[in-house]
Amino acid sequence: MKVIDLAPEHVDEYCLCLEEWSDEIREAGTHKRRWFEKHRDQGLRVKLAVDENGTAGGMIQYLPIEQSPAAGTGLYFVLCIWVHGYKQGRGNFRKRGMGTALLSAAEDDARALGAKGLAAWGVSLPFWMRASWFRKHGYRKADRMGMMALMWKPFREDAEPPAWIRPKKKPQGEAGKVVVTGLLSGWCPAMSLVHERARRAAAELGPAVEFREVRTDDRAAFLEWGMSDALFIDGKELRSGPPPKYARIRGKIARKLKKL
Ligand SMILES: CC(C)(COP(=O)(O)OP(=O)(O)OC[C@H]1O[C@@H](n2cnc3c(N)ncnc32)[C@H](O)[C@@H]1OP(=O)(O)O)[C@@H](O)C(=O)NCCC(=O)NCCS
Repeated sequence: MKVIDLAPEHVDEYCLCLEEWSDEIREAGTHKRRWFEKHRDQGLRVKLAVDENGTAGGMIQYLPIEQSPAAGTGLYFVLCIWVHGYKQGRGNFRKRGMGTALLSAAEDDARALGAKGLAAWGVSLPFWMRASWFRKHGYRKADRMGMMALMWKPFREDAEPPAWIRPKKKPQGEAGKVVVTGLLSGWCPAMSLVHERARRAAAELGPAVEFREVRTDDRAAFLEWGMSDALFIDGKELRSGPPPKYARIRGKIARKLKKL
């Protein structure tokens, strides 16, 4: 197994998070590709772990923290580390050291780029990126927002701990309609999936439901809202991780619509 930089021939599978077999990934649309095209020349780094046959089993993506959902200076931020763990498609690559090798390669790379440290998000629940996994790899908590821990590993003594950028505003409801607001960065297909399900449900439920998209890959929009990915039905946020099913999103909007 080795860790390599993302090359043009891997871009398609990277944009599908190595899950070309998954209908859900397709449902998430092309947002990740759009996000990638925008960020590839803005400091985004992507590495893949490939096995002895050259098959990619895992990936890590990180960028300067100044472009991430956290505030900090001179650090890099891991948006996502992912080792394919399903039987389908290319199969299960977990527990073979790919995750550890990817994180270690990202740390070496960030150091070589002059970064003062690496930060990452981790959750305290047993899904997605677990904070405990980073703790095991020498990271400690710099901040917390709900179940989202902000972990970091400083490389130098002058490194300052990062902090979450916090939500700054909420959408407002409007008389005579249901407003569904989707904030979307595009880098995570799981988030894009929720966004696209909400868009579809809003369209199906007719003209009294309005879907509004806020593209937070625009830094000014992200800073205005203080959130990168979220779904609101009028002023109420719908928890988007793990991704709610289409019927649940549609049901929530339909209930609001009935009350108009
Ligand atoms: C966290 C994650 C990246 C770890 O990947 P991984 O490749 O399985 O990690 P490693 O193989 O380096 O380590 C995992 C375990 O396997 C063990 N292991 C590593 N190589 C091994 C080997 N050859 N034989 C047996 N066990 C091994 C490690 O000791 C480690 O054990 P631990 O869990 O007790 O610490 C992976 O579980 C993952 O992708 N999780 C989901 C993260 C996610 O949701 N990302 C998307 C966010 S948008």
